[in-house]
Amino acid sequence: MIGRNDPCWCGSGVKWKKCHFPKLEHEKRGGVISIKEQYFNKYHIIIKDEKQIEGIREASKLASQILDAICAIAKEGITTQELDDFASRLYKDAGSVPATLNYGYPPFPKTICTSLNEVICHGIPDSTKLKDGDILNIDVTPILHGYYGDCSRMVTLGKVSAERQLVVDVSYECLMRSIAVLKPGVPVSAIGEAIESHATARGCSVVNQFVAHGVGIEFHEGPQIPHYRNTLNIPLVPGMTFTIEPMINAGVREAVIDPKDKWTARTRDGRASAQWEHTILITDAGHEVLTTWKR
Ligand code: MF3
Ligand code: CO
Ligand code: CO
Repeated sequence: MIGRNDPCWCGSGVKWKKCHFPKLEHEKRGGVISIKEQYFNKYHIIIKDEKQIEGIREASKLASQILDAICAIAKEGITTQELDDFASRLYKDAGSVPATLNYGYPPFPKTICTSLNEVICHGIPDSTKLKDGDILNIDVTPILHGYYGDCSRMVTLGKVSAERQLVVDVSYECLMRSIAVLKPGVPVSAIGEAIESHATARGCSVVNQFVAHGVGIEFHEGPQIPHYRNTLNIPLVPGMTFTIEPMINAGVREAVIDPKDKWTARTRDGRASAQWEHTILITDAGHEVLTTWKR
């Protein structure tokens, strides 16, 4: 076998590494590594091109439309399983498939996540009937033409307690405040800063066992984006697509995962939790919210 320091096979007499040794893409360009390559190599962040952005925009729009339709029928008396059945039909009719179904280990068993009251996230649809006073997060994640959409909203049923209303409002405010700071050059840590400072000012806590994430080409891409105060100094750049999905608790921040189903995450103290989720694209001018639902 010829080594890097052996004479090149071409007969030039020059070491192989200085002659016909295969070069990395960036070496051919004189050592210039594109932002796209740097972000992938350093952080596993996929910077998207125009075609990919268009695909993710379509998937995000579909996710929002399906989410709105499910929220519209989430009324007293309906079960979360019926919401899941309805969601399956909508995904199918749109030519998409659920990213959640069979995702992870143990495989997530349903099309959507339905997280009620003290459930923080990853609630599994079942025979539970919605009732007056409930708060419910519905999380929708279709794969359309190979691209991933991901968004969620809260629904309130009838007259809800002050504590439940507080987390519903504060989690929405946290989401919108963190989106407002997004533009190229801003560090990822600015998101957690905007969220935790507002949540604590409103007397709530921020869950730190689950994070937001890059999304689009895969379901959960880099980077992981904490909603709590942190020092993650990755500057945002145009072409990044990621979610923000703050989980805000009325009491303690700690989550306990259901030992039987291994998914349902509940607040440790049983007090209320809420979450809203958008998918965002970083643009030259600032940002664009790709998911189109409105509160
Ligand atoms: N949609 C969730 C998110 O926002 C992930 C759900 S994974 C599942 O990242 F398996 F629980 F469905
Ligand atoms: Co998400
Ligand atoms: Co989601």
